[in-house]
Amino acid sequence: MIFKRKHLLGLEDVAAEEIKLILDTAASFKEVLERPIPKVPTLRGKTIVNLFYESSTRTRISFELAEKRLSADTINFSTSTSSVKKGESLRDTAQNIEAMKVDMVVIRHAAAGAPHFLSHWIKGSVINAGDGMHEHPTQALLDMMTLREIYHELKGLRVAIVGDILHSRVARSNIFGLTTMGAEVAICGPAPLIPFDADKWPVKIFHNVDQAINWADVVMVLRIQLERQTANFFPSLREYHNYFGITRERLEKANKKITIMHPGPINRGVELDSDLADDPEFSVILNQVTNGVAVRMAILFLLSGEVEK
Ligand code: CP
Repeated sequence: MIFKRKHLLGLEDVAAEEIKLILDTAASFKEVLERPIPKVPTLRGKTIVNLFYESSTRTRISFELAEKRLSADTINFSTSTSSVKKGESLRDTAQNIEAMKVDMVVIRHAAAGAPHFLSHWIKGSVINAGDGMHEHPTQALLDMMTLREIYHELKGLRVAIVGDILHSRVARSNIFGLTTMGAEVAICGPAPLIPFDADKWPVKIFHNVDQAINWADVVMVLRIQLERQTANFFPSLREYHNYFGITRERLEKANKKITIMHPGPINRGVELDSDLADDPEFSVILNQVTNGVAVRMAILFLLSGEVEK
């Protein structure tokens, strides 16, 4: 199969065979990353700008690493030291960057739809590294890669996404991607943190975390996004932990194999017990981070057009 897309803006319209191609390509790049010299000349001569309007550790570093592993030239753009501080618009910023002959732009922005907007104004490829509360497609792809490594098959796998679903672009991209691949998905959290139209989504809804754990093979724990809470969605963090926190006691009560995932950053002791996050019997959180580099290499390669040469 040839990957025909120019941009990766989300997973909502990405077909199962495209996701499979991305994950297979990422698995090949993971082998490259395990070599003594983890670098290939695939994107030599290409220039990629990482345009991060929101803070990031994992996504920004792994995109930069992926670009360097593919021998691309990379430029990191930070809003705090750019002319965005002087009021320059996203469109002007992007068009000025493109005037310098850039091939691809990776963008994270607080506004949902910013990558889509950008894709109308520049000729290069645009990759969504997280847009507001909308999508975070590369996170869902690295999550699917991690699950495929453990379970080999996503079809029929039961994944419960627990936490702040309302504000989560990770939840949305995973729901699109996992259901496209035939997995069963459930969401669980306090009622105010479940979107009002979630009953129309292709997911089960739990308001009791023990029931969600009993149902699931995988629990994807989401961060309580304190910076996006504009109302009192729950009384206190302690209360959230008591009712929805993923604890060793809860997993032991379920008495079955359960995989714990978290996109990071973790609020340790709030949505997830700290010792569980570090326990390799349950947690694959650092495997997710490792796979992030391989998945981003795969996306950059497939969008670059180099695949057809
Ligand atoms: N998972 C994730 O997007 O983490 P960062 O915000 O650190 O990039």
